[in-house]
Amino acid sequence: LNNGLARTPQMGEARWNSWNFFACNINETVIKETADALISTGLADLGYVYVNIDDCWSSVTRDSKGQLVPDPKTFPSGIKALADYIHGKGLKLGIYSDAGAFTCQVRPGSLFHENDDASLFSSWGVDYLKYDNCFNLGIKPEKRYPPMRDALNATGRTILYSLCEWGVDDPALWAGKIGNSWRTTDDINDTWASMTTIADLNDKWASYAGPGGWNDPDMLEVGNGGMSYQEYRCHFSIWALMKAPLLIGCDVRNMTAETFEIISNEEVLAVNQDSLGVQGRKVYETGTDGCLQVWAGPLSGHRVAVVLWNRCSNAATIIAGWAALGLESSTRVSVRDLWKVRKIDHTKMFLRMLWHHLVLELTATTVRCIFSLLRQSLAQQFSLG
Ligand code: GLA
Repeated sequence: LNNGLARTPQMGEARWNSWNFFACNINETVIKETADALISTGLADLGYVYVNIDDCWSSVTRDSKGQLVPDPKTFPSGIKALADYIHGKGLKLGIYSDAGAFTCQVRPGSLFHENDDASLFSSWGVDYLKYDNCFNLGIKPEKRYPPMRDALNATGRTILYSLCEWGVDDPALWAGKIGNSWRTTDDINDTWASMTTIADLNDKWASYAGPGGWNDPDMLEVGNGGMSYQEYRCHFSIWALMKAPLLIGCDVRNMTAETFEIISNEEVLAVNQDSLGVQGRKVYETGTDGCLQVWAGPLSGHRVAVVLWNRCSNAATIIAGWAALGLESSTRVSVRDLWKVRKIDHTKMFLRMLWHHLVLELTATTVRCIFSLLRQSLAQQFSLG
């Protein structure tokens, strides 16, 4: 959608969303404390500026004038006051509704109320709308999502429009002119199996992503406890490489140092936010069921981002050949490891350059992926940057 927003994937444009950790257990205090934590941890300075309220903020019925109303028990001060608080911190507020009769948690939906609801969101100062797909009356998403785009545009307020149609009807083929992002899959859950499956599904649509409209493989689970540190690092690496909207989905008020280290890696964030805006993809796989993988994509400035991903259960060597990375066989490069793995030698990893190859040995139980950046150079020797 060409509304001037999401020129890089919704990060700086990155964001936090309440659903993965809190589900319906939200209230205005949690949202305010989250905004405070984004500031105090420095995450806001890194680009995590949207604070997004997901489902359950609304009362179960509209008011007598047909307007949506915040749940008086959990949002007694109203959304306008919350937006003022969030804006006062230099952050932006996201809200949630549904292109159906009800939201997934059975609050009123916005289908056939698009103009009223868009005006209301705009009057509150909302900056972002996630628009879900429950209770959709069997009407195709291609029909239900454009009216809200038009209603948002008509408000005159710039509101990022995030479609949450779960990949129904292959949205990459039709959503580019409708939303700033579209979900390519069902909901993620906090497991390695879910995360890897979703990565593969999202990969299929890589060629349809670009400035203004991104494939959305759903929000991050980093920090929610269901995966190991190494597995979360892969999750974040692949989401960054795929130019996915990066929505923190944990409780940032109480995150561990490891969680913070992952979601605050500036070099990985910079890959996600690179101005070229090309979704990286799986370029090579080998091993049992293709469990040894190379994912890569071009960046601005003659650079290539590469993730070497060991999904096998054993230690393995992954070789990324120049052809798979889109490089001429004579290209010389310098390599930089974005997780700075060279500093943790005890993991028995090594990253080395051979002629035309980037080779990595991974011990699957300890280290599952490496994220490196290749810069094409005229240097005589390969070097580790
Ligand atoms: C759907 C969406 C989720 C979340 C829930 C809320 O399942 O896909 O991301 O918003 O609804 O009910």
